[in-house]
Amino acid sequence: MLKPDLEFIESAQRALDRCDTLGEISSMPGVICRTYLSTEHQACNLQVQEWMAQAGMHTWVDAAGNCCGRYSGSSLDDNASTLILGSHLDTIVNAGRYDGILGVISAIELIDMLNKKSQRLPFNIDVVGFGDEEGVRFGATLLGSRAISGTWDNNWLELSDDENISMQQALDLFHGERRDPNSAAYESEKLLAYLELHIEQGPVLQDEDIPVGIVSAIAGARRFSFEIHGMAGHAGTVPMQMRVDALSITAKIIIQIEQIALDNNFVATVGKLEVSPGAVNVIPGSCHFTLDVRSGNDDCLSDGIQKIFNMIEDHQKGMGFSFVSEEIHTASAVGCSDWIINCTKKAIEKMSLPVISLVSGAGHDAMALAEVCDVGMIFLRCKDGISHHPEEFVTRDDVAW
Ligand code: HGY
Ligand code: MN
Ligand code: MN
Repeated sequence: MLKPDLEFIESAQRALDRCDTLGEISSMPGVICRTYLSTEHQACNLQVQEWMAQAGMHTWVDAAGNCCGRYSGSSLDDNASTLILGSHLDTIVNAGRYDGILGVISAIELIDMLNKKSQRLPFNIDVVGFGDEEGVRFGATLLGSRAISGTWDNNWLELSDDENISMQQALDLFHGERRDPNSAAYESEKLLAYLELHIEQGPVLQDEDIPVGIVSAIAGARRFSFEIHGMAGHAGTVPMQMRVDALSITAKIIIQIEQIALDNNFVATVGKLEVSPGAVNVIPGSCHFTLDVRSGNDDCLSDGIQKIFNMIEDHQKGMGFSFVSEEIHTASAVGCSDWIINCTKKAIEKMSLPVISLVSGAGHDAMALAEVCDVGMIFLRCKDGISHHPEEFVTRDDVAW
């Protein structure tokens, strides 16, 4: 039975312990929730910077709130080419402890090994813990990696969270001063590549009984916010055939979204639904819901979205409601770079492990970095493919690999 070297097993154990430590930094007792620019995000950055410094890195928090560390190359020249390793430090609500986090912590472990051996490479290695990949607080996503890749959109600053705090206000509070997230961008010509380790968040590696896999591509994703406006009314007096019940209309729409996705081979999720006025004896007047749609093929995605809008417009004609929609996120499908895939393949073969490559259905920061440099991702087996759930689990030996 193949086993990783002891040095890597010890490092893996420390990485898991550190993921546990960060799992305690949460805005909700008993579950893991750490959103962009929150006080928990602040505390997490401080802790990660401490670990980065212990590994011999110079650290900073950039204007977009990303936690950054640099392990200089042999030339000790800040202008040398730079490889970025990393992932995100934010979480969903009621998260697991490894989604994103493990990618940052394991990168620090790697630097620590180099530092202990006083090994320096002919390029800088930066580790970046992105402040927002999940998009939980403001809806738009990949915010940290978009800032780093120079594709930040100032319109995001006007987005507000559930407490009606704008992103601009949250940023000012986070930094204690006004800083421009666009200033976090790297000069693309200095970027060698971006490499991200991430849990698979799916069952393939477990099914194949392989600890790690190479990501060949990342599915495209688009997110929408919908408001369905019907007519609130008295639950006892308005006859059924005279109602414009926003919730029952929304329910019909959601069921048909599911069918369109099934029929057209893409995935669609309505993750948030709010009903107003939300009283037991009032016919719902309006509904807000979010739609997340994904596919490995961008054309399939846009065709599916068109079918969804056509269906809603058809319902509108017959049911007398109105709706508004806003696209809050779009990220095209991304192919990982062949040379990075080949390097990763050689490294996995060197460990006498079987090589498998897979497409990621989940979105990742590598999608944003792909706009300015070559990217690669390595997937780590996770128990039963569980993710976005507190039962997310990885083994120490898999991390050691
Ligand atoms: O939603 C995603 O695919 C990622 O986990 N943010
Ligand atoms: Mn996630
Ligand atoms: Mn993730």
